[in-house]
Amino acid sequence: MGEVRVGIIGVGNIASMLVQSVEYYKFLGSNEGLIHEVIGGYDIRDFKFVYAVDVSSEKVGRDLSEAIFAYPNMVSRFVDVPRLGVTVRMGRVMDGVAPHMVEDFKPIKLPEPSEYELVREVVDSGVDVLVNLLPVGSEEASRFYARVAAKAGVAFVNAIPVFIASSQHDGVVDLAFKTGAPILGDDIKGQLGSTIIHRALASLARMRGARLVETYQLNIGGNTDFKNMLALERLKTKKESKTLAVASTQDNPEALLREEKVYAGPSGYIPFLGNTKISHMYMRIKAFAGSEVEVEVKLKVDDKAMATAVLVDVLRIAKILKDSKLGGSIPWASAFYFKHPPTPVKSDYEALKMLYKGLEELGVEAKPKLLEYY
Ligand SMILES: NC(=O)c1ccc[n+]([C@@H]2O[C@H](COP(=O)([O-])OP(=O)(O)OC[C@H]3O[C@@H](n4cnc5c(N)ncnc54)[C@H](O)[C@@H]3O)[C@@H](O)[C@H]2O)c1
Repeated sequence: MGEVRVGIIGVGNIASMLVQSVEYYKFLGSNEGLIHEVIGGYDIRDFKFVYAVDVSSEKVGRDLSEAIFAYPNMVSRFVDVPRLGVTVRMGRVMDGVAPHMVEDFKPIKLPEPSEYELVREVVDSGVDVLVNLLPVGSEEASRFYARVAAKAGVAFVNAIPVFIASSQHDGVVDLAFKTGAPILGDDIKGQLGSTIIHRALASLARMRGARLVETYQLNIGGNTDFKNMLALERLKTKKESKTLAVASTQDNPEALLREEKVYAGPSGYIPFLGNTKISHMYMRIKAFAGSEVEVEVKLKVDDKAMATAVLVDVLRIAKILKDSKLGGSIPWASAFYFKHPPTPVKSDYEALKMLYKGLEELGVEAKPKLLEYY
């Protein structure tokens, strides 16, 4: 079987987790903890990192195996990573670095490459999939790198809440459609993160004939992701993405959103938490004969592990779609894995059914079959 050749845009904490976890699973020799062990014959050990871009003076010019541990990244070194022979290239800064993040991301003063140069680099590196791991609020930069992927004819996985795959009339999506480059997104859901747990509980209420009246989800963490989101103007799409993910489980999502009965978003930066994310969820539900049910949940997770687990599935699917020349936004492949997919679906069960149907049509098998567990 072949390789899944990955290019990374933004060598931050998720990139560190992703690169290290491939080595970790090689060492472990089992597939414990993965969502799907095998998709279309690919397993996690088939990932090869062939390209990386950043703008930080701590990262540009270094081998990827070193850059993943550079300041301000804070995922601990949990496995040895051999030299990868991939030098982190200079990208385009654009709106990637917010004014209050300059001390953290330390943008390097180097000439920035043209779009043409980046397209060439991506093609020459033999990238199958580019994954966008830029800070929240990088609207312009994300669209720029998505266009690079489309022009290079490679898949683009948009892990962040900038609405590209879910924009109906985005020139980038149209271009990707023409070049046969798939786009998956937007905003990756964690393996057992706050979105999936909140959605499952809200769906459960609906499945039992009860109605969600109001709900909130407050998230705190201590890494650059949370620090970056202190700038309220960068947060708009993150909140929209998380809020819609919860509201869309209900029969009346528009009313819930209009009446501001759903709040879900980042709510604080607490440095000592590091990559630990703590989420407090509250739901008030109307059930039988008007009786009220209240649910409160506290979730504590390694936020980067949760996101990476999902990426490990998505990157393999993106590679398969690219090889099948399926360009543009692919709703059926995004709904299970992203908070703000092109076509939101009420339950993750429906999203998984859509995914398996799409894969089956391509003659691709995913193992294990998770529908059995629902
Ligand atoms: N559970 C999760 O962790 C989760 C879930 C959903 C989405 N996300 C999103 O994924 C993204 C990545 O998360 P992270 O924790 O790795 O972020 P991070 O803050 O650790 O890393 C961001 C990286 O992007 C680099 N960068 C900034 N501007 C750039 C540019 N213009 N070009 C190239 N590189 C640039 C920075 O130098 C840094 O290395 C964030 O937007 C986050 O919100 C994370």
